[in-house]
Amino acid sequence: MGELNIPTLDDRDFLNKKILVRLDINSPIDPKLGRLLDDSRIRSHIPTLKELLDKGNALVLLSHQGRPGDNDFVGLEEHSKLLSKYLGREVEFVEDVIGPYALRKITDMRGGDVVMLDNVRLVSEELIEATPEQHARSFLVTKLSKVVDSFVNDAFATAHRSQPSLVGFPVVIPSSAGRLMEREVSALAKVFSADLSPKVFVLGGGKVQDSLRIVENLSKKRLADRILTGGLLAELFMVAKGMNLGRENLQILEKFGILSLVPRAKKVLLSGAPIEVPVDFKVEVSGGVSEESSTKLNGVIKDIGPTTEDIYSSFIKDAGLTVVRGPMGIIEDERFRRGSTSLLRAAFEGKGYVIVGGGHMISMIGETPLDQSKVHVSTGGGALLLFLAGERLPALEALARGVKE
Ligand code: 3PG
Repeated sequence: MGELNIPTLDDRDFLNKKILVRLDINSPIDPKLGRLLDDSRIRSHIPTLKELLDKGNALVLLSHQGRPGDNDFVGLEEHSKLLSKYLGREVEFVEDVIGPYALRKITDMRGGDVVMLDNVRLVSEELIEATPEQHARSFLVTKLSKVVDSFVNDAFATAHRSQPSLVGFPVVIPSSAGRLMEREVSALAKVFSADLSPKVFVLGGGKVQDSLRIVENLSKKRLADRILTGGLLAELFMVAKGMNLGRENLQILEKFGILSLVPRAKKVLLSGAPIEVPVDFKVEVSGGVSEESSTKLNGVIKDIGPTTEDIYSSFIKDAGLTVVRGPMGIIEDERFRRGSTSLLRAAFEGKGYVIVGGGHMISMIGETPLDQSKVHVSTGGGALLLFLAGERLPALEALARGVKE
């Protein structure tokens, strides 16, 4: 695949084989009911799976969902039912990952069978970041690689993690990128090499550590003309600027360990990075919603306010490239979706190219018809931004170095 030298399905003899396919079907989950709120990531893998099934292969599907301790850390039974629906054939859910039950099921599979293993992060070693060679010795890789012939990585959205299920298998069995991985990498590389300026990055969502890393990268390489922040990332930069967020917002930042990132955020600001923070917010006060200026905050921040929407939208409309990753507010609650919706609208109405990434933003786009020549909807969030910032993605590197057939 292009300059990255990654084998694709075209480079492998995947005919009547047993193939382990790493998907990223990590989806937004309703925190109260534990049910999936959006299945876009699930649908995005269907072309890869259909192509492999059409060639008589048996498929063992592997994915994560959430992280241990989080509300969205759930099993994959509901995911497997949706995969069955979109594939038009049974996807058997196996409530196990590397135990004897899973291994027996895989051993007994025949061409055309599909099984979905349970959440790979139930195996604690999956959350360890290490080298491909170290991960090749993990329980996960040693056990599963003995019962399959080959590995296909279609999980672009997790390609920035150096975890066993992403980097370990290419060391030991013939591996390739799936069609989604191929499509993402080709589209993003093309867009980013073109001269599309000014470049505006809209960053929100909950994964503040990741977002800060992205901001550090963008500012070090001077890749962004403006970085428009929302959500907890905006709050972090406001604290770094010495602004007063009010007691409750500070307590939330403290609870999520975000205050420890303030020195890094200060460093980014000192380097002259073009960071914008909201001038107003939608906040929740005693069960009600109101709008407050960023300089006089009393309520709990839940979304950007209307003036910020206007300011951010005007930057976006004039951009040559807008990259949107992560929502501006708590979009699971209808009352706090407006900020994110208006910025997406501004991006689609603007004159520039638009890349939208991350599970939550994709769920906001839903089935809206889009002009494909102007918009790339990426399944990646963190992976997308790190790729655009020129970072090496471990899962892609592992595929490029992997064993030759
Ligand atoms: C994502 O949603 O960004 C990917 O699925 C990666 O998830 P993670 O940040 O929990 O590794």
